[in-house]
Amino acid sequence: MDKISIMRKKELKIFIYEYDTVIELPEKDRALILSARKASENAYAPYSKFQVGAAVLLESGKVIKGNNQENADFTDGLCAERVALFYANANYPNDKVNAVAVSAKNSNGLLKQPAQPCGSCRQVLVETEVRYNSPIRLILDGAKKIMVVESAECLLPLAFKPVALG
Ligand code: THU
Repeated sequence: MDKISIMRKKELKIFIYEYDTVIELPEKDRALILSARKASENAYAPYSKFQVGAAVLLESGKVIKGNNQENADFTDGLCAERVALFYANANYPNDKVNAVAVSAKNSNGLLKQPAQPCGSCRQVLVETEVRYNSPIRLILDGAKKIMVVESAECLLPLAFKPVALG
């Protein structure tokens, strides 16, 4: 007799907290967004003219800033989030990452909608959560809306994780 297979349908839920302005944000988040905005000023983005800043808040209270670094060959640049995270993890390996704020601007200024980390940065954020066994709060800056999620995994469900390597 053929085995009857029963399909399961699952629903994933994420919570997104939205604010209209930085003034409404909790103090710590607000300070981190301002650091990310500042970091975006020093981005090296002569090709895209899209300047991104990231600010990483460590458990100790240290804030590590990074920004996107582009290259004339186009493929060797790196996003702001990974510049900041790799610097933090390289220099403060025992200081866990608590939160990351991201801010981006183009030729019209600060993006209106919240900055969204690319897929590769989401993967690195999830790896960092696994590394420190602790969720990373993401604060995504925008002139009209600021978005907060409590874990990077919210933005990369069913992520590839080190456990898969066996
Ligand atoms: N970029 C970031 O720095 N972070 C992101 O999450 C998205 C994209 C940078 C890469 C490149 O220098 C420029 O923005 C345009 O894609």
